[in-house]
Amino acid sequence: MRPSSKNIILIGFMGVGKTTIGKELARLLQREFVDLDQAIEADANQTVLEIFQNEGEEAFRKRENTKFMELFESDNRIISFGGGAFLQSDIQKVSLEDGIVVFLDISFPLWLKRLPSLIADRPVLQNKNHEEIRTLFVSRREVYLKGHHTLNTDHMSPIQIADNIAKTIL
Ligand code: S3P
Repeated sequence: MRPSSKNIILIGFMGVGKTTIGKELARLLQREFVDLDQAIEADANQTVLEIFQNEGEEAFRKRENTKFMELFESDNRIISFGGGAFLQSDIQKVSLEDGIVVFLDISFPLWLKRLPSLIADRPVLQNKNHEEIRTLFVSRREVYLKGHHTLNTDHMSPIQIADNIAKTIL
């Protein structure tokens, strides 16, 4: 596959802005944008929160895997992942081999300010105290760092970040 037509995948912790930035990047590069969670929700006719509540996390992860493999049959897309997708080993392998993976990083203190607006529809954050969330943030960050590129998003607008991604990968 030509490097220029590879799918570009945005990964990172919940609430970092993967969807908003992905849309900007798609506009900039004139590519199709797909949000993995939104695609799963459309197929299931339920929100991610409802899938967690009605079917459990394991069923959600299966849906995530199936939808990802389906999406990856085509190239030339911008795909934003949910925060847990890249933790699945086969999703990670295929993404790194066939796509361009961009980790959108954020410092924890800055991210923590967003927590109140995220908690209602992020089941993974519910029933956890700040220390447990910080531990999750730190351990996941280690995995996200396996992406091809890491971009710190602190104090940047989605448009600036999309612009930086485009300059970094093209
Ligand atoms: C999850 C992140 C969510 C969503 C689901 C699980 C996770 O997506 O896929 O709630 O495990 O980190 P966002 O990263 O878009 O919030």
